[in-house]
Amino acid sequence: MAFSKVKFSFIVTILLLSSTTLLAHPGSGWGGPSGSGSFGLFPEFYQFSCPQANDIVMSVLRKAIAKDSRMAASLLRLHFHDCFVQGCDASLLLEDSAKIVSEKNSVPNKNSLRGFEMVDEMKASLEDACPQTVSCADILALAARASTVLSGGPNWELPLGRRDSKTASLSGSNNNIPPPNSTIQNLITFFKRQGLNEVDLVALSGGHTIGVARCVTFKQRLYNQNGNNQPDQTLEKNYFLDLKSACPGSGGDNNISPLDLASPAKFDNYDFKLLLWRKGLLTSDEVLYTGKVGKTIHLVKRYAEDEGRFFEHFAKSMVKMGNISPLTGFHGEVRKNCRLVN
Ligand code: HEM
Repeated sequence: MAFSKVKFSFIVTILLLSSTTLLAHPGSGWGGPSGSGSFGLFPEFYQFSCPQANDIVMSVLRKAIAKDSRMAASLLRLHFHDCFVQGCDASLLLEDSAKIVSEKNSVPNKNSLRGFEMVDEMKASLEDACPQTVSCADILALAARASTVLSGGPNWELPLGRRDSKTASLSGSNNNIPPPNSTIQNLITFFKRQGLNEVDLVALSGGHTIGVARCVTFKQRLYNQNGNNQPDQTLEKNYFLDLKSACPGSGGDNNISPLDLASPAKFDNYDFKLLLWRKGLLTSDEVLYTGKVGKTIHLVKRYAEDEGRFFEHFAKSMVKMGNISPLTGFHGEVRKNCRLVN
């Protein structure tokens, strides 16, 4: 008994140390920055300390989706909004307090993000099963993968071991999450800043195969795309008319429309087909095809034709996004409550 305890803490120490070492030497051991598991994260991180972590996340999400199919989309988006602001460190989840200015009130997040109660529920179940072990940042990464899988999308080996930040950045959230009316050049720049390339941009935009957007995020396209009171000429006529009735010129800002009108709750490649048919909801998606950058145009066509290729690239790019500047080893902490620093 005593021996196995010693052995267990030895393994945990080795795991912690290896993640710290790899943070200092990201090229060693687990692949380079674009490989699967860089920066000291690795899929077996909870193998001994909380082997049921993924099952718990999957089971909470499965129940939530049965009540509200949009929940998968909302949780997938949380991981993106977390990772683009000071890395995948659950800074997104912190509430306002004496020391924290919450990212939840940024322009891209306020009145928009949802699913925080679901993260609390996952955390509570994980705390029951394995107290103070699974970080909130890893919960977001596990939930994003679970959302994809439970909606019919690809699965992937998910590097784990992220720790939680003790800080948040409201300005980082306002400045690093691309707005929906972005030009293709802006999108490329925002992604490049995070170490992500054009393939990642197009593949990850495929996350818009599930979920919805509020009228306020695409209204400009219907009434005044270029400041001349004219709609976006790239919108297909009938789709344009449907959107106008869902999103009137004044009021209705919180009315919602599906991002992928063909299959809003199914993770598939229809959102890319819709772009070819000029039925993409957000400008930021449409410009991947109309924005005159050969590489992104080619990828949109490719993914529209070949769902398998889209799934493969999406999975790879999710791992890459999930590797953005994680806190590992002795940095940060494992929060007890995802909304508060310990
Ligand atoms: C490329 C830049 C991106 C832009 C400009 C963008 C913008 C948006 C906007 C404006 C909405 C609707 C928000 C609202 O109505 O309040 C949205 C929803 C969503 N986004 Fe993105 N997004 C981007 C990338 C991504 C990425 C990388 C992912 C995940 C891999 C993602 C996943 C989602 C999902 C799943 C929803 C629906 C959420 C729900 O229904 O609750 N987005 N996005």
